[in-house]
Amino acid sequence: MFIAAARARKLIRYNFQLIGYEPDEAAWLSIRMGVKRDLQARRLRPNAPIPSRRNPLRYLGAMLRETGSIFRAIGSFLHDGAWTSSGGSFRLAEELGFDLVQEATDRLKADGDFRYLEVGGGWAGLKTSASPNARDIAGLARHFRNDLGERVFLHFTNLTCWHTELPKGITEHPYVTAAGLSVVDAQGVAPGSISILYSQAAAYFETDVASFISAASALLRPGGLLIFNIPPTQVVSVMNCARRRSLKLGKWRDLGGMNGIVIAFEKRASLPKPGFVEWPSPGSMRTNRGQLEERHPHVSN
Ligand SMILES: C[S@@+](CC[C@H](N)C(=O)[O-])C[C@H]1O[C@@H](n2cnc3c(N)ncnc32)[C@H](O)[C@@H]1O
Repeated sequence: MFIAAARARKLIRYNFQLIGYEPDEAAWLSIRMGVKRDLQARRLRPNAPIPSRRNPLRYLGAMLRETGSIFRAIGSFLHDGAWTSSGGSFRLAEELGFDLVQEATDRLKADGDFRYLEVGGGWAGLKTSASPNARDIAGLARHFRNDLGERVFLHFTNLTCWHTELPKGITEHPYVTAAGLSVVDAQGVAPGSISILYSQAAAYFETDVASFISAASALLRPGGLLIFNIPPTQVVSVMNCARRRSLKLGKWRDLGGMNGIVIAFEKRASLPKPGFVEWPSPGSMRTNRGQLEERHPHVSN
């Protein structure tokens, strides 16, 4: 774990150098912690229920069961904490009323090709058994199996490397943070090519939202869709950065608790699409809390 974390940090630093990005000290601290939790999340079953660290005995018991190691359990209790992951899913997009498969189908039809990018996709649904509905990258891959690698390309990032082998048309970009997302350009994802950029409970942890939004906007094609969730404390910065980066606010919803606020933006095209509204004040967003019960399966502290 120690060696894997050091290697991941080195490769993340290398990717930052490629794009000339220098995180500040606070960002590095958060990345270091993120890498450790990322390595741990890979070992847990998708959606493993991990109790809060406020209940030490239950937390340690669950981590011991999941990891099979008392040292890992104690290490995560004292230092790393635990991330549980759905394995990647479209749940937060669905909470906003988006059917990403339908969006993808419409965009493929309109544009002739479809490129999807997910930040912090984890297992991307490739580790769990197939569900009848396409609700993750694995589901999109099944849905578009005839076009995968030809007209449909699915990309996702992680802080460490989760996959050793992937089908043609699906690409993992390991050692990439949300703020350092523009490095995917050097890995074959052209600026202006992404139709849907999604992040569930991953860009949420980014401390440099300005860099993330700038990279996301550059990667999106005109009319492209950006959906992610943020803690309420980031609302003002996100809104200001998005406005500067030609992103038009679409639907948003304050889910409360660990889900924070889930927001959709559209990259400005010449003609705005119906359903995309003018900016509310950040204050009015903050008052719209508690519409849904707190039920974030992804994060525990
Ligand atoms: C709680 S898991 C969520 C995984 C997956 N999106 C899901 O919904 O199950 C958190 C993920 O966030 C990613 N992550 C954490 N900090 C990040 C950052 N600064 N930039 C990009 N990804 C980050 C990690 O790689 C980790 O896989």
